[in-house]
Amino acid sequence: MDFEKFCRENCVERRGTGTLKWDSLQEIFGDADLLPLWVADMEIQSPAAVREALTKRVEHGVFGYGKVEDSYYDAFFAWQKKHHGMDLAKENVRFATGVVGSLYAAVRAYTKEDASVIICPPVYYPFYDAILNTGRKLVTCDLDNHEGHYSLDLEKFEKEIADNNVEMFILCSPHNPVCRVWTEEELDGMLDVCRRHGVLVVSDEIHQDFAYEENPFTSSAVVKGGKYRDMLIILNAGSKTFNLAGLIHSHVIIYDKKLMETYDAYIKSIGSPEVNLMGITGVEAAYRGGEEWFANVKALIRHNYDYMKQEFARELPKIVVTPLEGTYLSWIDLRGYMEGDKVAEFIQNKCRLACDVGEWFSFTGHGFVRINLATDTKNIKTAVERIITNIKAL
Ligand SMILES: Cc1ncc(COP(=O)(O)O)c(C=O)c1O
Repeated sequence: MDFEKFCRENCVERRGTGTLKWDSLQEIFGDADLLPLWVADMEIQSPAAVREALTKRVEHGVFGYGKVEDSYYDAFFAWQKKHHGMDLAKENVRFATGVVGSLYAAVRAYTKEDASVIICPPVYYPFYDAILNTGRKLVTCDLDNHEGHYSLDLEKFEKEIADNNVEMFILCSPHNPVCRVWTEEELDGMLDVCRRHGVLVVSDEIHQDFAYEENPFTSSAVVKGGKYRDMLIILNAGSKTFNLAGLIHSHVIIYDKKLMETYDAYIKSIGSPEVNLMGITGVEAAYRGGEEWFANVKALIRHNYDYMKQEFARELPKIVVTPLEGTYLSWIDLRGYMEGDKVAEFIQNKCRLACDVGEWFSFTGHGFVRINLATDTKNIKTAVERIITNIKAL
């Protein structure tokens, strides 16, 4: 694939278009003049099929309440079946206005105040918020880092659960930011511990489609033939896959009837809206006509990752780049060249990059930087050059 050509034809200028990533730099980083590689969306235009479907909607010119038609379910179910072996029926699915909102909803619907909820840092920071902002008790079990490859120590995990009377586990699968695609065996281990301790599992699978060939993604729903379905709340969306986060549309998947009743009752109690008209229009079109686009985007991400990894290996071999099994967010350890607590300042003020840094994902996570690879290769080259030049100048 000609990646330069793909970027020329598909990447667009976003600064000045009202975007969080490019237009909030002053508010978030205190500096508008940085190259943004932070929040997880892309500079790549969504698939043509999506743009055409949305244009048709806009030209129709009426934006009344939406309805999820059978055609939406058909497209969504076909994608999940083909790519993830998931069997779904309408009664297993609810719609929401984003996965983060559903994390809060799940915590509130299934646990009481002061209940303990466990997460495995370093992990996507809204997981902390969904626990702490709802008045629940945060329990953590840090992943183990072996030269950039992360794993979960099940004994430690079980001890935290037992000692803290944990009621819920928020699983990140694939795991942002450490690029892990958990294997079926690993998931079986985690879910088995949860089963034995009566812990409900919220499985955030928003990155489900970003798993690279040698590390196929397994949904918690299909582990060991669906053995754990009765204790799962699965959250996924087309928003990462097709770069549609601003359409605010996602899925909640619950197989167990009682769990679904509890969820429905909670949603009723807060009067939450169910669907976003543009969301259902765009996501259905993406599942129907976005497959080739998606394959190209995945190849570009892999290309950007390989480029970055090779450059660092050649120029700065003490940088540890975590193997990219999943997601499009690279996780990089700079502690070989500076104290961990200097990294955030170095990345922003010396390299002039806006990135998520380690301490956002873990209280003890200093020293790491997360780089969003789903962008024009030019941006990755600029970032890599700046990091190399500035480290060499230290
Ligand atoms: C693990 C994970 N969950 C959820 C989200 C955001 O989901 P949403 O935009 O649907 O709230 C992200 C975005 O980066 C993510 O990485």
